[in-house]
Order: sequence, then structure tokens, then C-alpha cells
Amino acid sequence: MPDSAVPERAIPSRRRGTRPAHELILIADYGSQYTQLIARRIREQHVYCRIIPPQQLTVQRLRQERPTGLILSGGPASVYQDKAPLPPKEIFSLGIPVLGICYGMQAMAYRLGGRVQRAGKREYGKAVLSVTQPDGLFRGTKPEFVSWMSHGDLVKRAPPGFSINAETSNTAAAAMADSRRRLYGLQFHPEVAHTEEGGRILKNFLFHICHCRGKWTMRSFVKDAAARIRQQVGTNRVVLGLSGGVDSSVAALLLHKALGKQLTCIFVDNGLLRSGEGIQIKETFGRHFHLRVRYVDAAHQFLNALRGVIDPEQKRKIIGREFIRVFEAEAKQIRGVSFLAQGTLYPDVIESVSAWGGPSATIKTHHNVGGLPKRMSLSLVEPLRDLFKDEVRELGKLLGLPDELLWRHPFPGPGLAVRILGEVTAERLRIVREADERVTKEIRRSGLYRSLWQAFAVLVPVKTVGVMGDERTYEHVIAVRAVTSQDAMTADWAKLPPELLGRIANRIINEVKGVNRAVYDISSKPPATIEWE
Ligand code: XMP
Repeated sequence: MPDSAVPERAIPSRRRGTRPAHELILIADYGSQYTQLIARRIREQHVYCRIIPPQQLTVQRLRQERPTGLILSGGPASVYQDKAPLPPKEIFSLGIPVLGICYGMQAMAYRLGGRVQRAGKREYGKAVLSVTQPDGLFRGTKPEFVSWMSHGDLVKRAPPGFSINAETSNTAAAAMADSRRRLYGLQFHPEVAHTEEGGRILKNFLFHICHCRGKWTMRSFVKDAAARIRQQVGTNRVVLGLSGGVDSSVAALLLHKALGKQLTCIFVDNGLLRSGEGIQIKETFGRHFHLRVRYVDAAHQFLNALRGVIDPEQKRKIIGREFIRVFEAEAKQIRGVSFLAQGTLYPDVIESVSAWGGPSATIKTHHNVGGLPKRMSLSLVEPLRDLFKDEVRELGKLLGLPDELLWRHPFPGPGLAVRILGEVTAERLRIVREADERVTKEIRRSGLYRSLWQAFAVLVPVKTVGVMGDERTYEHVIAVRAVTSQDAMTADWAKLPPELLGRIANRIINEVKGVNRAVYDISSKPPATIEWE
């Protein structure tokens, strides 16, 4: 994907020579699996930071943005490799403090005249680190502590002006520093929880070396974001597809705060929602927060379009297509709309750049209205594109979003349609919806809801024999699925207590007409997926 397709957040104009309006740490991403973790750790200290691909680390950019500090991340490359991504040498003489981590340290050493070489033994995992100069990054740390290493190369000779200030049994230069120029390198990863003094080291960099004040809070974010939104949108009108998920809900509240009645939300009831969802949206956003919300009851349209369709991908396509139709028709009725808002988050935006410098660019875009802005010639407003998921929740809490919506499990765009195997009909929707309600209620009651990534019911397209009183029954099977996960990329089936599973099964079989059997799904992802379709 070309760079231009990934617009950076507009940088507020700053006059040259004035103090930046905000503290900003830039993190150049050389492809480490821990880069996002560095960003999280910094934001936890209430310092704003942004991740950029290495090609964007130019003297010109640094002069323009004037970051308070710079971090060079780790990465899989070796400085001697052909086309290894290296920072320009000049960035080290701009007076900006720089912290190089792992590959970042090696790149710094190499650029400034030190020597990097292959380690005799690849060091991976925990290593005891001895601090030989307890100042700078090591101010206040223990003299010896466990650090997390993951490297094949190491710095053999530090560049002129640097001293070595920590070692491990395998790595003589585990840390280096030129405190006069405020340049620092760490061979280990302070951002990883296994590094015992990692938090203190990062704090030392931020507060003692970069002199950050740590004033970036959600409150300040709301103020800045609202100002930015107003600047972008002016007096125009904005439309937002409200699904009731955390991201669109928080985006709606933030936009409402910034724009008031200029924002109209569209809530499409596609008939594939869980029990009570539509009512909850009306109550919360309409009555409580006084947002302008247009509710579109399009259940018939979706059901008609899905009639006779069995193939899961086909279902998804139809639902996506109908959604765009309904949304577009509704948005056209609002006069003067020129912006479409989306709840895109930071991890969706960060360009993951290959270690070789070329943008390998895996950018996830999973909005329901992907093609809409172009079709309707709308501009995009993405007020959450600087935030991580947990920050969005923090923001939602600050804006008053009720816990039930704030902590709601993810729900797929195609809704219950992908939890009904086979054809989607009104009757089958009733069954899965009623079963799902019981799964959720019992799990909430057990206090386990928040510890699970998702928990739901699936209608399996087979009937089994059962017995009710003296009669033989031949009815549907419900599969119960509950998983734990960090990010949905992998997931484990949840080891729910047998009593809870028993209660769920009893309620489904006794209370949902047409079901005589419930089973529990004990597959993990991979090789299974979370959803059944
Ligand atoms: P799978 O089933 O692939 O799901 O393990 C991973 C996560 O994504 C959700 N999911 C979807 N979300 N549209 C969505 O918006 C979809 O078509 C879709 N399919 C799966 C799923 O609920 C899980 O959280």
C-alpha cells in the first residue's frame, strides 16, 4: 500500500523555535514484535508517542515535529545486511535524546562509528544484567536484575564518546551511553515485562533524560481531539454508523462532544442482532446522551436477501452489500453531510514495515462501511486512530459510556447470521437469539464475563433425538462456545466450571423451544476459528 494511503494524523502547526505544544516521543519501528509494547509503556507514563516506519525518520521530519525524544526499536535485521534499514547519521546530532533498543542500539553504534558483530551465541530469553555505571538510564535501579534478551548481533566496540554501562555473562556491551549527547543504547528489551527494572529505565529516559512532564491524560486527549475534530469538520455534518460495539460507541460520544447536533448516527437493525440490542442503543444514545440517532429497521430486507443462502462467504457478502445500501440511502436523507466517521483504532493504522525498509504494509481495515466514503464522496473522520483498545475503553469510561457497553464482547459485523449454520430464517434466528441470551446471562451471573474474549451460542444444522416426558423429540442442537484470547488471532477454549456449563445447558434445553441438546465446543484457534462460520 502506498504511503499516501496511510495519512498521518495532521500535525498541529508549530512555529519553529517554540516549545512543542505536546510532549511527543517518536518510535521508529524496525520490525520488532515488541514495538507496540514500547508505545504502550510510554503512554502508561502519560507521555504521548507515535510509531513511524523507518523511512519516515528523516532530519526534515524531526526538525518539523521536534519530538521530545526518539526511540529506535528492535528488529530482525542485521546492520551489515544488504538494505538494512538504518537511521540517517545526522539525526544523532539534532540535540534530541535517542534510545536505541536491541537492533536500535546496534544501528546507532554502527552509524556513529562503533563495531557490531555476530554474537558467538544467540542470546534469547532471560539474562542477569550487571550495571557497571548506575546513572542515566540506570538511575535508581538494582545493581543486578533480570533482563530480556533477544539478539543474534551485538555491539563489539561502542562508538567514540560512548561508555559501556551494563553487561551480562554473554554480552559485554549490554548497554551504552553518551550522556553528553543524550544518546543511549540497550541490548535488552526494557519494554518487556520480564525485564525487572524495565519500567524504571523507561521512566528515566522519559523524565530524567527527555525531561517529559507526563501530562498526556485522557482528559487532555478529549480536549485536543475535540479541537482537532472541529478544525477538520468546520460547520459540516458528519454521519457515523453506530453498531453498539465499543469503538463506534466511543467514537460517537467523542464526536458528539465536539460537534453536538452536527453529528448524526445511523443504527441499522439488520435483524441479526442479539436480544435487546436495538432497545439498548435507543436508551443509551438517544434518551441518555441525546445523540441524534436514526434507527433503521431493515430486518426484512436482510432476511429476504439471505433467503436460501447457505454458503458462509455468500452470507457475509450479502450482509455487507445490504448494509451499504441501507446506510447509503439513510445518509442521503441527511442534508449537507460531507464526513463519514469511523472508529478505526491505532493498531489498525500502524504500518508494519518490513525490516528491509520497504513497506510490507499489513494494514487491517475491517469497517463495515469500507467502500462508502468513496462511493458517497465523503471525507473520513477517525477520532480514535491514535488510541489503543484499552485507551478507548478509558476514554469511553470518561465520556460516561455504561460498563455494559464498555466491556461488551466483540460481535461480528454479520451478526447472528454466522452463528446459524445453514440458512438464516426468522425461526432459526429466534432459537439462536434465545440461546445466546441464556449463555450471556449465566456467564455474567457467574462473574466470568470480563475474563472471556467471547461467549455465545451457535445453531448447529442437525437434529437429534431426545425424550421429553413420555415423548420422543427430534430437535435442534445448540453449541456453546466460550474462548479466552488477547487479540482474536489465537484463542483457547475457556475451561468453564462444569456447574456453569450445566446451568447453561439446562436453561437452553428447558427454555428455548425447539432445542433438545446442548454441546460445548472445546476447540482452540488455530486450527479452529472462534466463530463457526
Ligand atoms: P474468527 O472466527 O476468524 O474471528 O476466529 C476472529 C474475531 O473476529 C470476529 N469476526 C468478525 N467480525 N466481521 C466482523 O466484524 C466478520 O465477518 C467476522 N468474522 C469473525 C469474531 O467474532 C472474533 O472476535
